[in-house]
Amino acid sequence: MQYSTKVMEHFANPRNVGEIPDADGIGDVGNPVCGDIMRMYIKVSDGRIVDAKFKTFGCGAAIATSSMATELVKGKTIQEALEITNKAVAEALGGLPPIKMHCSVLAEEALHKAIDNYLKKTTGKGLDVKEHAELIAEHAHDVEHGQAVECETPAEKDEPGAA
Ligand code: FES
Repeated sequence: MQYSTKVMEHFANPRNVGEIPDADGIGDVGNPVCGDIMRMYIKVSDGRIVDAKFKTFGCGAAIATSSMATELVKGKTIQEALEITNKAVAEALGGLPPIKMHCSVLAEEALHKAIDNYLKKTTGKGLDVKEHAELIAEHAHDVEHGQAVECETPAEKDEPGAA
């Protein structure tokens, strides 16, 4: 499988690994197919995401996309962060093999869940669950149509950014 130089670089040297102890929002997601899990933390100030960190127990593509997603959201408003799609994260990494695109949906979903958690804590109302589920399903659907969704066996995984 051919990974871009950027994917390999973010996999080998993931940015923003760890946790934010006083995070304003935390998002947990798991991929039911492969069992990989991801937790994302965000710190928000004046409506902007000023810090983001993650812990991922998963494949190289999941680690690289989490790393890039945390880089992309820093400095963004909540609305701008919600507009960052898994495709944008993959593009920023110079692309992902089609068979690994589903791993990027995990990073998008973890970010959205962290934002949802932040909104619930601060406004009492999170993201529109139906609208959000449709959005994620749409992105996952695009992935399925790009290529079959398959996962590596746990034995094939490496985890320098692992929890
Ligand atoms: Fe499970 Fe990539 S997220 S194989």
